[in-house]
Amino acid sequence: MTKYVIRGGKPLYGTVDISGAKNAALAILPAALLVDGVCRIENVPQISDVSLILNILQELGADVRTVNRTTVDIDCSHVRNCQVSDALARKIRASYYFIGALLSRFGSAEVALPGGCDFGGRPIDLHIKGFTAMGAQVDVKSGLVQAKCPNGKMMGSTIYLDIASVGATMNIMLAATLAEGSTVIENAAKEPHIVDLANFLNSMGASIMGAGTDVIKIKGVDKLTGGIYSIIPDQIEAGTYMAAVTATGGELLVKNVIPKHLECITAKLIEMGAEVEERDDSVIVRRSGELCRTNVKTLPYPGFPTDMQPQVAACLCLADGTSVLTEGVWDNRYRYVDEFRRMGAHIQVDGKVAVIEGVPHLSGAAVEACDLRAGAALIIAGLAAQGITEISQIQHIERGYENIVQKLTGIGADIRVVVTPDEGAAAQAG
Ligand code: UD1
Repeated sequence: MTKYVIRGGKPLYGTVDISGAKNAALAILPAALLVDGVCRIENVPQISDVSLILNILQELGADVRTVNRTTVDIDCSHVRNCQVSDALARKIRASYYFIGALLSRFGSAEVALPGGCDFGGRPIDLHIKGFTAMGAQVDVKSGLVQAKCPNGKMMGSTIYLDIASVGATMNIMLAATLAEGSTVIENAAKEPHIVDLANFLNSMGASIMGAGTDVIKIKGVDKLTGGIYSIIPDQIEAGTYMAAVTATGGELLVKNVIPKHLECITAKLIEMGAEVEERDDSVIVRRSGELCRTNVKTLPYPGFPTDMQPQVAACLCLADGTSVLTEGVWDNRYRYVDEFRRMGAHIQVDGKVAVIEGVPHLSGAAVEACDLRAGAALIIAGLAAQGITEISQIQHIERGYENIVQKLTGIGADIRVVVTPDEGAAAQAG
């Protein structure tokens, strides 16, 4: 078993470079299925979720070539297969984008229900509502989504989303791009990665207007042609390093970001005592005084992102006073709280509300990452804690953070990857 071992208590100083946005990449890479010709996609983060999506594309018959560490060429011209294998689809939430993309291209798709982090129920009824409104017949049986357009093509429609779902918005955009006629998505989500997907598709010849507002209009086009596109920087990765320096103290230059996307995070870190200076494509974050309590409610963009909730909770564990966290997106996103308690945090959870009473210090402990952002939050807690923290189940963290150990080491953290000898030998033998 591989663990992260952190000796905490050191402030962070230096520069950290932010990678391409995970949640944008996970939609843009499947969107290559709509393109006739080669798409060159730059600023692709090197994370295990991206590898899985590329594996699915290859399995479908796409030609995927790595150009350099962050650039990939994808040619889906010869893809004829509309079925994504169960084993791959179940490993990752974003496999649901293959339903929209395959429906758009072939009018047919067969994809297992997606996996991903466990935050309570994660239905895809709104995705299905959209596909059905566009003329697809969708059956969900034995964990498999089978969707087919009787006339072979998706038809434009007006779809009102009961919840501003990120996944449903992007999936319907994909399905509508090559559809017959126009589609309108009302109450669409507005996250930066939605705008990024629209920009990618438009740069290849799609006609999408209004991404970033709550009404998106997509005029179906006959085909998309190849081109070059660079993915936006990762808002949540940047926010995670900003939260880390807020927790440990120190000063960081966080490079390759879009400061506008970070405003919802910056506002809360400032309330907690951090100073944040915005530059054109970087932010400087420093914290030298006391950590202050605050209240945080997660909401769809431009609200405070749910994917930053555990990381900000790590900071609030050390703040002076009592803070209230309210989770406004997911039903069950506090599964990490027991691990924080092992480190000495005082947190009470009641449904979607967590009350955090700040303590003067956390103590290192052996803890387990239960999902991606919870794992990142445990790293932050470990960096700020006294003593040694050992984090297991780090595969969750590697799904979404490129080179996190190298990046943290580069800013002065004492973090190492340790393979437990016995278990390591057993893994090799197996
Ligand atoms: C995406 C992100 C995830 C992030 C979330 C919210 C990816 C791969 N994952 O997840 O990291 O936490 O956005 O920013 O991009 N809902 C329904 N029916 C649906 C779809 C969603 O009821 O068909 C509900 C969900 O249960 C949840 C809310 O809508 O309560 C928001 O979910 P959604 O925005 O769809 O999240 P994901 O796209 O799955």
